[in-house]
Amino acid sequence: MRKTRLLLLAPVVLAASTLSPAYAAEKLTYYCSAQEDWCQLMATGFEEATGIKVSMTRKSSGETLAQIKAEASNPKGDIWWGGTGDPHLQAAEEGLSDAYESPLRAEQHDWAIRQSESASNQTMGIYSGALGYGYNEDVLKANDLPAPQCWKDLLKPEYKGHVQMANPNSSGTAYTTLATIVQLFGEEEGFEFMKGLHKNINQYTKSGSAPIKAAARGENTIGIVFLHDAVKQAASGFPIKAVAPCEGTGYEIGGMSLIKGGRNPENARKFYDWALQADVQTRALEVKAFQVMSNKSATSSPMAPDLASIKLIDYDFKKYGSSAERKRLLKKWDDEVSVLPQ
Ligand code: G6P
Repeated sequence: MRKTRLLLLAPVVLAASTLSPAYAAEKLTYYCSAQEDWCQLMATGFEEATGIKVSMTRKSSGETLAQIKAEASNPKGDIWWGGTGDPHLQAAEEGLSDAYESPLRAEQHDWAIRQSESASNQTMGIYSGALGYGYNEDVLKANDLPAPQCWKDLLKPEYKGHVQMANPNSSGTAYTTLATIVQLFGEEEGFEFMKGLHKNINQYTKSGSAPIKAAARGENTIGIVFLHDAVKQAASGFPIKAVAPCEGTGYEIGGMSLIKGGRNPENARKFYDWALQADVQTRALEVKAFQVMSNKSATSSPMAPDLASIKLIDYDFKKYGSSAERKRLLKKWDDEVSVLPQ
């Protein structure tokens, strides 16, 4: 009796196990750290192009790194697309991402390929953009405030309560700000700057672009963000002016990484290749994402910030994207800046 039952069950088990790989091949779990609307456009674009069902989570760069780390023993995500490069580099160093060389690599700018090579091909540069800030011209005028032009202008007492930035632990934008200030002014003076800035900050947000969205709504005056995020608000009709600070500024190389141990590695590589195509990257303009794209043939908007006209520092991605340095700077900011009274 027992034997017959086993025999009957056997074909069913077999059918299920031959079916499951095919079923799995139709899915992709996608972690996204760029703007929500661009994340969404990429998800639906990929679904339409391949028929693969995408399940998406949007979180800021530092938060996504923390999630991938927490899930490392049982990875849930397949691909991490977008967000600043530093946490992607940290993920590579900590063995959380897989190496891959896309057949589309030759179509990409040198800076994107160099980012990949510096991390044994465990991440890839997908876009670039300079840091700065933006302000709401109407709110500035209503408060009788002068137009700031430099980083150090933001320390002036008249801007108290008028400046917003994200928390560098959760946000890649804010970590880029911290690392930029340290590289621009040196560590000691840089931390003095962050302490002075803290006095004028009205709120540390979770997401990097939130401060300029708040400024667009008139709920904040100055937002420290990537310039393309400020230009996006201006292009959407809000009275936002983008400023490339006079002392010079840092920049990001947005990243893409395959999550090690992901359940759908083949689909993740499909997404990776697809996302490096020129026509896919040009679609960023539909959601006013004005970064410089990694594919040399992607079209950029005349409204996009012109990186060649901005004084850029030689941002040391190797150092500031290393696990030890990123952790050290964040801890120092937590211990010495965020705890200060305002
Ligand atoms: C915005 C920018 C991206 C950047 C991202 C980082 O979405 O448009 O260029 O990579 O911020 O987000 P986060 O919330 O981590 O600062």
